[in-house]
Amino acid sequence: MKIDILTLFPESFSYLSSSILKRAQESGAIEIELHDIREFSKDKHKKCDDYPFGGGAGMLMTPQPVFDAIKHVQRDSSTIILPSPGGSTFDVQTAKSLAEKEHLIFVCGHYEGIDQRIIDIFKPMEISIGDYVLTGGELPAMVMVDAISRFVDGVISADSLTEESFSCGGLEYPQYTRPAEFMGHKVPEVLLSGNHAEIEKWRKAMSLEKTKALRPDLLKKKDDPTK
Ligand code: ADE
Repeated sequence: MKIDILTLFPESFSYLSSSILKRAQESGAIEIELHDIREFSKDKHKKCDDYPFGGGAGMLMTPQPVFDAIKHVQRDSSTIILPSPGGSTFDVQTAKSLAEKEHLIFVCGHYEGIDQRIIDIFKPMEISIGDYVLTGGELPAMVMVDAISRFVDGVISADSLTEESFSCGGLEYPQYTRPAEFMGHKVPEVLLSGNHAEIEKWRKAMSLEKTKALRPDLLKKKDDPTK
């Protein structure tokens, strides 16, 4: 999968070149390319923002540099994503379905946002990562790229995906590694027993208990055939 990220702040994306996503790029499972929107500005000072018509707080990104940056990377197969607090909420289903796409373009707004004509022209998917407002689309783009990449073949093991939170509608069971006792806290006996059927039973029970305590809404969703 190819992911192009258009931003005024390419330096803020260093996270994407570390750890698992670094390996995913080295293996060719995903290719991520950053593009500085400012380089597309035709303004002699490379200006990319201006005051909103009609007044109001803050600055808006002007349409020309964003339009040219999108045109530079867009193909027939592209899915354009605009991180926006006003978009539909990102979740595991969205991540899975975007992981099937061949080419994603993230357009990161900054300041008070992007001129509406960019949305009217390109009709991007507007996606929010939660009900709060961030200073720009960079962090949401990173969050989405990370979550989507995990579902691209070859990025992480298939086992990790089936066992984790949300994949079965609930939260993942607690996990332990060595030592078997830490600060007086012991690893549950069943996990040391080697009895796989019992371990499986314990994990299911713990997963349910944790979901009930922390995210009961997920259980309601699971029981409701309309969700
Ligand atoms: N840009 C600013 N806030 C955002 C949010 N919550 N989700 C996606 N993009 C945003």
